[in-house]
Amino acid sequence: MQKLTITQPDDWHLHIRDGAILKTVLPHTVRQFARAIIMPNLKPPVRSVDEAAAYRERIIAAIPAGQQFEPLMTLYLTDNTTPKDIIAALASGFVKALKYYPAGATTNSDFGVTDIRRCDRVFEVMEEVDLPLLVHGEVTDKDVDVFDREKVFIEKYLLPLKQRFPKLRIVFEHITTSDAVNFVLEAENVAATITPQHLLFNRNALFQGGLRPHFYCLPILKGEEHRQAIVEAATSGNPKFFLGTDSAPHTRNNKENSCGCAGCYSALHALMLYAEAFERADALDKLEAFASFYGPDFYRLPRNTEQITLVKSAWQIPAHIPLIESELVPLWGGHEIMWQIQ
Ligand code: NCD
Ligand code: ZN
Repeated sequence: MQKLTITQPDDWHLHIRDGAILKTVLPHTVRQFARAIIMPNLKPPVRSVDEAAAYRERIIAAIPAGQQFEPLMTLYLTDNTTPKDIIAALASGFVKALKYYPAGATTNSDFGVTDIRRCDRVFEVMEEVDLPLLVHGEVTDKDVDVFDREKVFIEKYLLPLKQRFPKLRIVFEHITTSDAVNFVLEAENVAATITPQHLLFNRNALFQGGLRPHFYCLPILKGEEHRQAIVEAATSGNPKFFLGTDSAPHTRNNKENSCGCAGCYSALHALMLYAEAFERADALDKLEAFASFYGPDFYRLPRNTEQITLVKSAWQIPAHIPLIESELVPLWGGHEIMWQIQ
């Protein structure tokens, strides 16, 4: 196949930050995606509908002239989120979900939930009004191995949560293990997003000839058997699995640092990376539904009607892109890949 025309996709998990970074990265997303679920982990996080409304306006102001893009907003769940916040979120029309981060699990998660059961009153209302919960599924216990954080989270928190709230719609974000795939397959009203890095790389990428901070994200890359399980899920044609890049820009100096930030920058070339991964799995015919159908179906939004064409023609991912007073290093920067947008 040399050319692939698909319905325009959406990105169901995206970090675009604010200010100068927002202005730099948003055009990359807008070139490929019609809509995106915008992560609320700003400093401080987006916790109220008013904050989400203001952030949404700043995003809309950063859309390049003449282009179309719809930011789908989320609120950051904290110990202090109330049922009232949920009702307000639903009434806003533009807040599409709440995001749960365990406190301390990842970048800007200091305001995260300290004990998930504290939120049961909120989950009850979310279940009732059918507002999805987006979960960063990793435990933070010091005695749990970093590669086991997702698996332990499922056993300790996700299975009990599903038992308490069977109808609550959950997106298990950026899944990385066969354990997560199996959980999603079995649980009702649960779907999952999958990133390009977890399709293309296993944890060896972190240590290829030295320490590679630009492959460091959370949840961390896993072993090859898990990568294969993720590829199988993404290319299976099962509507429970859909595209979410988790593109998470950090400046080069914040990544190449004695304590480097977690996050891979993929918004520049996300769709091309997914095409690469799907072609390697001989499943390009499954890309459209994964990228463009199953996400809106889960969120109960209309599918896009525009189309986008990918052509097979080798190009080199830029090693870096300029940013005020720094740079962004795209995921797999400097490497040649086979697909580009026409
Ligand atoms: C994300 C970020 O930088 O905001 N980082 C990451 O490694 N994925 C946060 C997150 O989604 O965990
Ligand atoms: Zn994320």
